[in-house]
Amino acid sequence: MWEQKNIKKILLTEEQIKERSKELGKQITEDYKDKEKSPLLVALLRGSVPFLAELIKHIDLDLQYDFMDVKSYAGTESTGDIRILKDLDTSVKGMDIILVEDIVDTGRTIHTVCRTLLHKGAASVKIVTLLDKPSRREADVKPDYIGFEVENEFVVGYGLDFDQHYRTLPYVGVLKDECYQ
Ligand code: IMP
Repeated sequence: MWEQKNIKKILLTEEQIKERSKELGKQITEDYKDKEKSPLLVALLRGSVPFLAELIKHIDLDLQYDFMDVKSYAGTESTGDIRILKDLDTSVKGMDIILVEDIVDTGRTIHTVCRTLLHKGAASVKIVTLLDKPSRREADVKPDYIGFEVENEFVVGYGLDFDQHYRTLPYVGVLKDECYQ
């Protein structure tokens, strides 16, 4: 396939991701099934789209989902300020939110989005992420539902990109070093 010359190794196959999404979906169903209202899934564009599409198949609730697109302010990394490129169309007031991420790395993005949603009146905010890179964490954030922990390696595929490429791969893999140079 076209990408194979650039991929050093496959970390997670489509099958493994499906299986784990099933488990996470079941867990989320259990945790929210007795609540008055179903949670609103808020997926962060663009990387979380394939994971969202798989996950929602396995959550047995009357769900809604919406999208946000955010960008860190250049030069203010340490403050975690973000610019909202696309905001939600749904009101979050009184809603139980589950943020859907592709990967939590430093955690700054998700931490700031959580704060913003709580500030706007969300009743609760939890985080589900396909991948977690805890060794890189800088913000005080711990995802509630984690697909897989990964080492400190740059990964692509299943929504994750390098320079907007590789998002469509059906697996998560590590790029060869020469692809960065
Ligand atoms: P954070 O604010 O540092 O947690 O950044 C999270 C975002 O950085 C993710 O949603 C990805 O878009 C991007 N990111 C972090 N690590 C990787 C990686 O290994 N591959 C691709 N994108 C990554």
